[in-house]
Amino acid sequence: MGYLIGADIGTTGTKTLICDETGRVLSTATVEYPQHAPRPLWSEQNPADWWHAACKSIRQAIAEAGVKGEEVAGIGLSGQMHGLVMLDGGGEVIRPAILWNDQRTAAECAEMTETIGRERLIELLCNPALTGFTAPKILWVRRHEPQNYEKCRKVLLPKDYVRFRLSGTFATEVSDASGMLLLDVRRRAWSGEVLERLQIDRDLLADCYESPQVSAEVSAGVAEQLGIPAGTPIVGGAGDQAAGAVGNGIVRSGVISATLGTSGVVFAFSDTVATDPRGRVHTFCHAVPGKWHVMGVMLSAGGSFQWLRDNLCEPERREAEQKGVDPYEVMTAEAAEAPVGCEGLFFLPYLTGERTPHANPNARGAWVGLTTRHGRREMLRSVMEGITYGMRDSLEIIRQIGVQFGEIRLSGGGAKSEFWRKMQADLYGRRVCTINAEEGPAYGAALLAGAGTGVWGSVEEACECCIHVVSSYEPDPQAAALYEEFYPLFQRLYRSLEADFDAITETVKEAQR
Ligand code: XUL
Repeated sequence: MGYLIGADIGTTGTKTLICDETGRVLSTATVEYPQHAPRPLWSEQNPADWWHAACKSIRQAIAEAGVKGEEVAGIGLSGQMHGLVMLDGGGEVIRPAILWNDQRTAAECAEMTETIGRERLIELLCNPALTGFTAPKILWVRRHEPQNYEKCRKVLLPKDYVRFRLSGTFATEVSDASGMLLLDVRRRAWSGEVLERLQIDRDLLADCYESPQVSAEVSAGVAEQLGIPAGTPIVGGAGDQAAGAVGNGIVRSGVISATLGTSGVVFAFSDTVATDPRGRVHTFCHAVPGKWHVMGVMLSAGGSFQWLRDNLCEPERREAEQKGVDPYEVMTAEAAEAPVGCEGLFFLPYLTGERTPHANPNARGAWVGLTTRHGRREMLRSVMEGITYGMRDSLEIIRQIGVQFGEIRLSGGGAKSEFWRKMQADLYGRRVCTINAEEGPAYGAALLAGAGTGVWGSVEEACECCIHVVSSYEPDPQAAALYEEFYPLFQRLYRSLEADFDAITETVKEAQR
């Protein structure tokens, strides 16, 4: 029997898993690393940390699975998207990687939009220029660190740097490349027009593959270090969202997922290229060859709940410690005592600005509608509802641009709580379900490795074999009707406060000068 490795180069750590040819997971290993914020709005990591974590977690996962290294049949990589890694002519890292959650590039996004034109950008790249994406970061380095730009011979995404270290090959694949803002997403190839207008040399970019295609092989030196055979195929893999979607079985029309992790992602499969002229959702190539996906990304979904836990939920944390349970369990049990809609208390979950639907780094969090009748339980529930309304915003846009979908597959931390699963069914007004697979992007990457090395005939076949629905929830008609009344109010609140968020940001900047 051959075994498959999936490795996800995430933001907090690298997770590697081993599965067999039936998709059964034998082991997982995670190795963490730090994130650096040398200045406000900046977010960086050291690519060497990813490499060491990948090696360590691969070795650990193989040992724990009890398989022989020579039985590894293929490797799939997934990773945090949009990050910029710059290498010199000798393959050495020039400066720390600039990550997806870095917000330093507002001026470069404006420059890109002006140079290419907002409409043309969406025609060519299917997406507007957003601060987190890669191309504006390249422009930033060219402007602010010309000496580094001069030295640069290759630009890679995070997982593609690990591929380079594993194999010596510069390669990427269409799903992750879509988030660079240099790929013609319709044609699934680098955009000559955008590269020319931005004066970025094509040679800086890696060759671009489809996700299950074999793109590289493990080199002899690394093979010895990891105990797996030289020549082991490495498939293209995928950006973490597309890989996670493969791991959730989002590989055919009508299937959609809502994932509540730190960020909140609504991910819809699409047979055709569906774009939002207003650029509120991202349209990227999918990890399924010849298919696309549309995705809404909230920056602080589970992140808002975590903020609440860490800053305001000392009593709940103490209670959880006494009972030996997770603090989130105590928090959700308390939230469940508050009524649907929290008697008009709303929480806006924009604690780190927002991408979908507002594309506004200045957006802020807020509680609106407090009265003396509101206590802890309403505050807790309103945060959960605010996050879920934010996810519904993405679902609405995806529906409006013509992507059809049925039941919604839930995943991430938010799917672990039954209360939150039911709230999602009620607030989305649709049936929601959970699936058997919970390992996320690393699992999707392993399935891509299997699809690319002949274990399965295609990505779709891999998902059919390995992923199935295990539970589902119908909306409660009464709760759903109430949420229908509250949801438009939630939407209005951002519009009412938008100008104030900008003014607050300006005033804070002035005060700090
Ligand atoms: C997707 C995105 C994040 C990162 C980090 O557009 O920015 O999901 O990939 O996980």
